[in-house]
Amino acid sequence: MSNKILVTGGAGYIGSVTVWALLRSGYEVVILDTLAKGHRQALPETCTFVKGDIGDTSLVRQVIRAHGIERVIHFAAFSLVGESVEHPLRYFQNNLVQGIRFIDTCVENGVTSFILSSTAAVYGDPVHIPIVETHPLAPKNPYGFSKLGLEQVLTSYRQTHGLNVAFLRYFNAAGADTMNGIGEDHTPETHLIPIIFQTALGKREKVFVFGGDYDTPDGTAIRDYIHVSDLAQAHIKVLERVGGGLKHLAYNLGIGKGYSVLEVLTMAREVCGREIPYEITGRRTGDPPILVASPDRFHAEFGWEPQFGELRDILASAWQWHQTHPEGYQGEARGTA
Ligand SMILES: NC(=O)c1ccc[n+]([C@@H]2O[C@H](COP(=O)([O-])OP(=O)(O)OC[C@H]3O[C@@H](n4cnc5c(N)ncnc54)[C@H](O)[C@@H]3O)[C@@H](O)[C@H]2O)c1
Repeated sequence: MSNKILVTGGAGYIGSVTVWALLRSGYEVVILDTLAKGHRQALPETCTFVKGDIGDTSLVRQVIRAHGIERVIHFAAFSLVGESVEHPLRYFQNNLVQGIRFIDTCVENGVTSFILSSTAAVYGDPVHIPIVETHPLAPKNPYGFSKLGLEQVLTSYRQTHGLNVAFLRYFNAAGADTMNGIGEDHTPETHLIPIIFQTALGKREKVFVFGGDYDTPDGTAIRDYIHVSDLAQAHIKVLERVGGGLKHLAYNLGIGKGYSVLEVLTMAREVCGREIPYEITGRRTGDPPILVASPDRFHAEFGWEPQFGELRDILASAWQWHQTHPEGYQGEARGTA
């Protein structure tokens, strides 16, 4: 089997950390990314980088054939829930339509295994916590629907073409890969932890906390944060077995512990030793009050424990990156597009 892995969206946050981890594990990597959201600077200067769209059939065909690709990790997507509610077509087009075109081109050109970045958003409002993989699938927004749609399309290609597939449903990715200088730099940034540290650095006036009246102990929403390097390692574990030997199609990737926004803020303040002003404001449409994974399926099958089981360590890694990258990747020299 070819040792070369095609990583779409490999210049993005989770994708770039996974690329570094794959290289460290001895894989060769080919990255396909439009750079609409990602950063070439997040990648090693010398890696094989192709700037292009997953929906560009002739480009994808050429990349797969030129590199003899058999396995794909598919991170490329738009992933802002709010934006997906405002601009559903953008999400269905980029994530689902282009995604289907991409899957079909992969299968036509000899790809045998496909790992999809999926999300807790496929579950919608939880009917029980922690969320297990058999929880009803009831997305509440176009982003969640686009990911569930791809899961279903892949299931169909599995049945008709024998494609080996795995859906990794991440909860909240967080933290930084400090060894390789990779952190979270989205534009716009909507994720809590980077916003907190940008505020600690004086780049923002305050953190807006969306909703203080949820049915949770302190009234703020509860999320499950998993370190981005643990996510990367989980992909490598799945990659090793996706060609046969996986017991399931879908796996939750979370820590299995929930923290409220105010708990994250308090701990972040302790980690960075700075004041972090915040203001509680209205709820954001489509935000469930609590999202906590049951990671038991993944842990049982892979005998795997996250290296960053404590939120404090996740926060410390993020803080280290933000201090050294106060403007994100701007001005970073490594790799140019
Ligand atoms: N960050 C999280 O907490 C989280 C949680 C659940 C699921 N996910 C999923 O994980 C994946 C990675 O998330 P991330 O936070 O690293 O996002 P990101 O925006 O940092 O990375 C996505 C990358 O995909 C690229 N891209 C987008 N559309 C493309 C296209 N049509 N063709 C080629 N490249 C394209 C972007 O330029 C970007 O580099 C996404 O699929 C996201 O939906 C993320």
